[in-house]
Amino acid sequence: MSYGPRKRRQVKKKVEEKGLETFAFLIHPFDIQDVVKKYKIAGKVSPKIVASILKRRRPFVISEISGIKSSTGAEAHGFFVVVPLLPWQFVELEEDYIMEKIAKACKVSQKVGAKIIGLGAFTAIPGGGGRLLANMVDVPITTGNTYTTTLAIKGAEEAAKVMGLSLRNSKTAIVGATGSIGKACAQILAPQVGNLTLVGRDQGRLEEVQSTIKESSGCDADVSCKISKALNEADVVVTVTGAVDSIIYPDDLKPGAIVCDVARPRDVSKLVSEVRDDVLVIDGGIVDVPGKAKFGVDIGLPSGKAEGCIAETIILTLEKRYENYTIGKSINVEMVKEMDALAKKHGFKLTGLRREEKLVTEQKIEEVKANARKAINLKQWTGVG
Ligand SMILES: NC(=O)c1ccc[n+]([C@@H]2O[C@H](COP(=O)([O-])OP(=O)(O)OC[C@H]3O[C@@H](n4cnc5c(N)ncnc54)[C@H](OP(=O)(O)O)[C@@H]3O)[C@@H](O)[C@H]2O)c1
Repeated sequence: MSYGPRKRRQVKKKVEEKGLETFAFLIHPFDIQDVVKKYKIAGKVSPKIVASILKRRRPFVISEISGIKSSTGAEAHGFFVVVPLLPWQFVELEEDYIMEKIAKACKVSQKVGAKIIGLGAFTAIPGGGGRLLANMVDVPITTGNTYTTTLAIKGAEEAAKVMGLSLRNSKTAIVGATGSIGKACAQILAPQVGNLTLVGRDQGRLEEVQSTIKESSGCDADVSCKISKALNEADVVVTVTGAVDSIIYPDDLKPGAIVCDVARPRDVSKLVSEVRDDVLVIDGGIVDVPGKAKFGVDIGLPSGKAEGCIAETIILTLEKRYENYTIGKSINVEMVKEMDALAKKHGFKLTGLRREEKLVTEQKIEEVKANARKAINLKQWTGVG
């Protein structure tokens, strides 16, 4: 059920009377199946019709987020607000149209009393990563990309640890290295890994990131516009592109590889988990939210768990830091450290490794290791694999 004007007024009154610290988080459907979860009829008509109805639909509040309580005792109350567009529509529609729609979602958020707004998934990409939007709305915003970067790195480190790999001796590839999160991950990981390859679509932009890394850490990173070739040699992959469809397929990965898939929608094809039992794919870092958080809507995670971008919005609310925080395409490495410290202060903890809404068990990790050993041996003996 979406919130009409009357319900929005009631909710705002409640927020004001109770003096709640509040936030909103903008979400959108990732595919038609997500739309079907709310409107069954969407499964019975053509995807083209669904997309054209979504395009005309106004943003709306879909649920309240309750039960968040920091270990400091601070509490936060939130709202999920839907921007009804599919990923490909964010890429293909006119930027002005998309920005207007996101701005409307911010106004809806304001009407229920949100004091800060987090931009989820593709709502954080157009308009220079929130820069344009910040001039269009009166409420502070954040893309959530700072804490997402912290968690992407922690996820990759944790996965390497459980697979018995040392980052220092590993070849690491960052796919989407010219993007906001990808570039920040590359900058932070450069001094920690044996060898770094920046993977993207544009050689010139990749070389710019390469020089920034050289200047900031003295590290020599390689660049590649050939995903398959770059990943065939990588032990650890962090992938975080704005691609609408999967871009990493079973043949791209070497046995024993670890992939931390931060992108939403995901970069790694579902085929990888179906046919490659010798690689470990995990979703970018996910955290346990302190308290007894209830999201009121299926966000693809069990209650009480959230992705980096939502967590960052919650942390800023708990801190009463009602200011534009992560804005623009450049992530500040000092802010990545600040977010890590604030998250610890409020009791956010990295959840175990997860993939496609499931926990990756210790047994699964042992199986991957054993299968990887077998595949590597086979490759050494036969020269194929
Ligand atoms: N898990 C989470 O908590 C979380 C939080 C925030 C964001 N995200 C996700 O992270 C991803 C990146 O976000 P961002 O803010 O860093 O985006 P961004 O700054 O726009 O960067 C996107 C990157 O993806 C590349 N790219 C775009 N389309 C591509 C395609 N079809 N094939 C290959 N590369 C492509 C771009 O390369 P070019 O330079 O060639 O354009 C760029 O390097 C998105 O999927 C977003 O939804 C996840």
